[in-house]
Amino acid sequence: MPPSTDAEQRHHAHLTRLQAAYDEILTRCGYDGVAIYSGAPRTLFGDDQESSFAAYGHFVHWTGAAQNAHDWLFVLLGQGPRWYYHAPADFWHLPTPPPTGVLAERLSPEPLRDGLGMPLPPGDSQRLAVLGDVAGLALPQGVICNPPDLIAALDELRLYKDEHERDALRTANRWALAGHAAAREAFLAGAGELDIQLAYLAASRQRESHVPYQNIVGINQHAGTLHYQHYDITPPTRANALLVDAGHRHAGYCADITRTAAGAAADPLFTTLIEGVSRYQQRLIARLAPNVEFVELHREMHWHLATLLAETGLFKGSAEAAVAGGLTRAFCPHGLGHSLGVQVHDVGGRQANASGALLPPPDEDPALRFTRHLDVGMVVTIEPGLYIIPMLLEPFRQGETRHSVDWQTVDRLADHGGIRIEDNVYITAHGHDNLTRGGRHDDD
Ligand code: GLY
Ligand code: MN
Ligand code: MN
Repeated sequence: MPPSTDAEQRHHAHLTRLQAAYDEILTRCGYDGVAIYSGAPRTLFGDDQESSFAAYGHFVHWTGAAQNAHDWLFVLLGQGPRWYYHAPADFWHLPTPPPTGVLAERLSPEPLRDGLGMPLPPGDSQRLAVLGDVAGLALPQGVICNPPDLIAALDELRLYKDEHERDALRTANRWALAGHAAAREAFLAGAGELDIQLAYLAASRQRESHVPYQNIVGINQHAGTLHYQHYDITPPTRANALLVDAGHRHAGYCADITRTAAGAAADPLFTTLIEGVSRYQQRLIARLAPNVEFVELHREMHWHLATLLAETGLFKGSAEAAVAGGLTRAFCPHGLGHSLGVQVHDVGGRQANASGALLPPPDEDPALRFTRHLDVGMVVTIEPGLYIIPMLLEPFRQGETRHSVDWQTVDRLADHGGIRIEDNVYITAHGHDNLTRGGRHDDD
C-alpha cells in the first residue's frame, strides 16, 4: 500500500477521534451501540417524483456522503464502525459505487442489495439506539429511537472540528468563492438572477440539487428578503444591488458565504454602506478567539450597525438610542452567525454542553442560532447585515423615531434591498483562521 498523504492521515485521525468519542458517549449514555440511518428523499404527494435530499448529519459526520439515501452506519461498542451502503441491482438508477480509500479502510463498507429496512445488527446488542428519520421503517424490537441524551452528546461532538474537517471546510470555501466571483461578474455584465445562479453553479462546479442550501440570489429589493427563494428570468432594468448567499459542499462539509455588490445604477450611499458593513464584519472577526461570548459579539454587531446609521446620517441620534429603541433590530433582524459543519446551520449552538441543557437566545434576539462561548475547533459564520425591510421599519415611522430617521433616504435605498457579508471562521487556540479569506490571526 502506498504511504498515506497528509490529508489521508488527517482523515484517519478524524475517524479515530469519532470512534473514541462514540465509545465514550455510548458508555456514558448506557448503549451497546447505535445505528444511524442516512434517510431517504420524500416522494411528492400523488406523484412518483422525489424531492432533493441531504443525508442526516450524524451519518455524514462519519462518511461525508451527503447524498447517500437508505444507508446505515453501525457503531457498536468495542467494534469498528460498519457502513451498509444501499446499492441494489437497478437498471433505472446507477447503484451507489463502493466507498474507496480511507473510508473503505476504516468503515468496513458492505452493500445492501435488497430491501429498504434496517440490517440486523451483528453480534449481541442489548441496548441499541437508532438515530435518524426512521418513521415508517420496520425496526427490530427493543431498539431505542432517537434518544435525546445521545443526540445531545453527539451534537456536542459535531461542534468541534478537527483538521480533516477544517480542510474540507476550507476547500468548500474555495469552490464557493469561485462561484461568487462568477456571480458578481455576471451581474456587472447585466445578467439577471437566473443567469447569475447558473454562472455560480458552473464556476463552483455543482448541480443545483447538491448545494448545501438553496442559493439566495437577490437583485435590488429582493436583496432585502433574507432567504429570497426565486430567480427572476429577466435582467433588471436598473442594476442597483446584488446579494448572493451561496455555498458549496466538499466531503460533506458546507461553505456558507454571502457577498453584496453595488450595480452601475447604485446610489453612492449604498456603496458607502457596503464598505461600512464589510469593515465592521472584519472587526467582529478580529475579535474571534476562545472564551469570547457569542451573544456579546452579536450585541457588538448592533453597536457597529448603530454607529454606521449615525455616521451616514440615516439616524440622527446617538448609537445608544438606535440600539436601545430597537431600530438596529429592524435594520438587521437575524443573528450574527451560527455553527457550520456538515449542516449549514449546524447543531449544538444553543446547548450549554453535552447534556443538552438549553441556552436560549436573549428575548430581543430570538433568531440568534449560537449562544455559547467560543472554543478551539468551533467553526462559526460571521454575517452582519443591513436591510431595508418595509414591514419592520413601518412601526418606526411613528413615535419617537418619526423625526430622527432620514426616511427620505431610507425610501431611496429601498430598491437596493440590503447588504449581508458572510465569512466562515475556525477558532484556533489563540485566535482564529478565516477559512473564507485565507487569513490566520493567531500565534499557533
Ligand atoms: N445561508 C443561510 C445563512 O446564512 O444562515
Ligand atoms: Mn449564508
Ligand atoms: Mn449563514
